[in-house]
Amino acid sequence: MENFNFYSPTEFVFGKDRAVEAGHFVKKYGGSKVLIHYGGGSAVKSGLIGKVKKSLDEAGVKYCELGGVQPNPRDTLVYKGIDLCRAEGVDFILAVGGGSVIDSAKAIAIGVPYDGDFWDMYSGKPVGKALPVATVLTIAAAGSEGSGDSVITKEDGMLKRGTGSDLLRPKFSIMEPTLTQTLPAYQTACGATDIMAHVFERYFTNTTEVEITDRLCEAVLLTMIKETPRVIADPDNYEARANIMWAGTVAHTNICGVGRQQDWNSHGLEHELSGLYDVAHGAGLAVIMPAWMEYVHKHNVMRFCQMATRVFGCQMNFEDPEATALEGIHRFRAFLKSIGMPINFTELGAREEDIPALVEKFGIGDGRTGGFMQLDAHDITEIYKIAAHASL
Ligand code: NZQ
Ligand code: ZN
Repeated sequence: MENFNFYSPTEFVFGKDRAVEAGHFVKKYGGSKVLIHYGGGSAVKSGLIGKVKKSLDEAGVKYCELGGVQPNPRDTLVYKGIDLCRAEGVDFILAVGGGSVIDSAKAIAIGVPYDGDFWDMYSGKPVGKALPVATVLTIAAAGSEGSGDSVITKEDGMLKRGTGSDLLRPKFSIMEPTLTQTLPAYQTACGATDIMAHVFERYFTNTTEVEITDRLCEAVLLTMIKETPRVIADPDNYEARANIMWAGTVAHTNICGVGRQQDWNSHGLEHELSGLYDVAHGAGLAVIMPAWMEYVHKHNVMRFCQMATRVFGCQMNFEDPEATALEGIHRFRAFLKSIGMPINFTELGAREEDIPALVEKFGIGDGRTGGFMQLDAHDITEIYKIAAHASL
C-alpha cells in the first residue's frame, strides 16, 4: 500500500424526509444568501425546490435561483450563474439535482471570486478560491456530492473537461433515497454504471497488498449487481434505492482508492463521447469500460481473474486463466445490457468514422497516459474500435 491522505469533510445527511433540513444546514455552514441551482425541471415538478425554499425561509436564509442545467453541464450557464451571484451578493451555492447540477454549482463557486475566466481552472490552473457548495442529491451516479471534482462542457467545440480541488468538496450533502424514485429506469441504470466504473477505475491497479481497498471495491460492486435490477423492477423500493445511493458516494469519495495507483483512462475516453454526442455519461461508460478491460486484460490477467471470481461468480480455470478473465468481462457487459445500457457505438448513437476525431480530442498527441496500463494514441484507437463493434 502507498502513503496517502484521506480528506472527506462533507457532512452527509442521509435518509427519509431530510430535504426539509436544507435551511438548517446552510445556516450551520455560514450561508446568508444562497443560489439555489437546479436542472431541467424534475426537481421543480417533484416539489423538491418548493420544499427547499420553505426550509430556507424558515431558517431566515435569503436566496435567488437559477435552473436549466443540462446533462453534461455547459459553460454558458456557468457564466450566467457567476454574473447572478455577483449581482445578488450570493455567498453560498446549493445544488439541487444530480452530478450535472452539482458540477455546474462548483464551477460557479470557482468563478465568483476569480478575476479571470473560470475556464482557466478547467484548462489546468489550480483552484485558488471557491464559494462554499452544498447539495441536495436527486440521482445516485456521479458521486459529486462527496467529491472535489467538477466536469463542464465548453459549448464552443463541445470540449468536456474537469477540475478538482478539496475546496470544491460540498459542506453538506442531503441524500434522501426517496428523491431518486422518480428517475426513469434508463437514468437509474446510467447512474449504476457510473458508480461501478468509479470503482473499476480504482480496482485495476499495479499497487500490490491493497486487500482492504480491494474488498471495499468488491463490496460496492456486489451491492450494485444485487440492487440495480431490484430498483429497475421496482422503482419505489426504498431499501434498494438507499443502498445504491450510499454505494454511489462510497464509490467516489476515494475511500475505495486510497493507497493505490488508479487508472482513469475509461473516464477520459468516455468524456470525449459525451462531449461529442451529448450522451449520458453512464451510457458512454457502458460502451467504453468493458472495451478498455478487453484491451488491457493481458497486462495483469490474474487481477481480472480476481474480479471475475469474486465479483461475477466465475469458476477459476487454472489451466487457462485468461478464459476466466474474459468470462468476467463478458459477464460485466451482459450485466450492463440486462439493465438496459448500450454496449456498442450503434446502440449509443456514436459513429465509427468519428474515431480519429475522438482520438484527436482526447489530446494525447505522441504521449502516453494511464496508471494500470499506459496507453498511446494507437491503443486508444483500438479501444474505441472494440467499443464500436462490441456484442454479447
Ligand atoms: O435536469 P433534470 O430535469 O433534473 O433531469 C435530470 C437529467 O435529465 C434527471 N434527473 C435527476 N434526478 C432526477 C431526474 N429525473 C427524475 N427524477 C430525479 N430524481 O436525470 C438526468 C441526468 O442528470 P445528471 O445530473 O446529468 O446525472 P449524473 O448525476 O449522472 O451526472 C452526470 C454528470 O456528472 C459528471 C458527468 O461527466 C456528467 O457530466 N461527472 C462528475 C463527476 C464528479 N463531479 O465527481 C464524476 C463522474 O465521473 C462524472 O464525470
Ligand atoms: Zn463517472
